[in-house]
Amino acid sequence: QRHLISAADLTRDDAVLILDTAEEMARVADRPIKKLPTLRGRTVVNLFFEDSTRTRISFEAAEKRLSADVINFSAKGSSVSKGESLKDTAQTLEAMGVDAVVIRHGASGAPYRLATSGWIDAAVVNAGDGTHQHPTQALLDAFTMRRRLVGRDTGLGRDLAGKRITLVGDVLHSRVARSNVDLLHTLGAEVTLVAPPTLLPVGAHSWPCEIAYDLDSALPKSDAVMMLRVQRERMNAAFFPTEREYARRYGLDGDRMAKMPEHAIVMHPGPMVRGMEITAEVADSPRCTAVEQVANGVSIRMAVLYLLLGGAVFDPKTAPDATT
Ligand code: CP
Repeated sequence: QRHLISAADLTRDDAVLILDTAEEMARVADRPIKKLPTLRGRTVVNLFFEDSTRTRISFEAAEKRLSADVINFSAKGSSVSKGESLKDTAQTLEAMGVDAVVIRHGASGAPYRLATSGWIDAAVVNAGDGTHQHPTQALLDAFTMRRRLVGRDTGLGRDLAGKRITLVGDVLHSRVARSNVDLLHTLGAEVTLVAPPTLLPVGAHSWPCEIAYDLDSALPKSDAVMMLRVQRERMNAAFFPTEREYARRYGLDGDRMAKMPEHAIVMHPGPMVRGMEITAEVADSPRCTAVEQVANGVSIRMAVLYLLLGGAVFDPKTAPDATT
């Protein structure tokens, strides 16, 4: 596969190969020199039309650890603000000879358009498009779950069969939720969505997951609980419950966390709205993997770029360091 547009495009074997390759990439971070020469001479552009902290920084870190030449493009401050189209922006990049484009865009479908339009010849990686998909987020979440719920070494080659994952909150606007439902289903997990009825998409009832409205009864049956950010910027105020009401019914606080099984983890893709979907007590607790998820994102993005740009089977024991 030349592009990564949607988590739904991955087979179980594709996903497990990415998770296993990421596990090997993570071992590079344990070496004195954290850099590989794998993508030396290849150019990767990070094309961000929407704001990002985690995704953008971790893609850049992953590209640099693989020795790629990195070009960072932000729509703010570019000729996009003068009305330049995605097509003309893409063709400008193509003229510079890029090998891969990592794109975040507010419009659902923009990465697909870029990959299939013929405007560019580069591999396209979706770094989040509108409310549609965020496949590397789902992969880093699955990587985090496999490490925590199956084991770092014992997890190699394995999926998440039988693990019970609960996603909570603003599903309507969440590309993270859509990507996770697709990937977790492919990996054999049992997924439950818990959301206010007004923050569930109409089509969610046909997704491969359960739907529930009561968080307290879902918690004791969960191996992982993923809190979703409430995306006010994409929201019509008329559909939004008050902050207090939302936190009372769908927020995760210490009392609620105590209802989870002892081994269960709390996840959040970030950015977190503390006090609304998650209290500071929970966000800062050792059971919350939010920071770990960010670290795991670098390994996942290294694996995705490595596999898309034609890497052979990666052996961390024989792979040389990039010393220059
Ligand atoms: N999780 C995530 O996509 O965060 P950013 O918007 O900061 O990249």
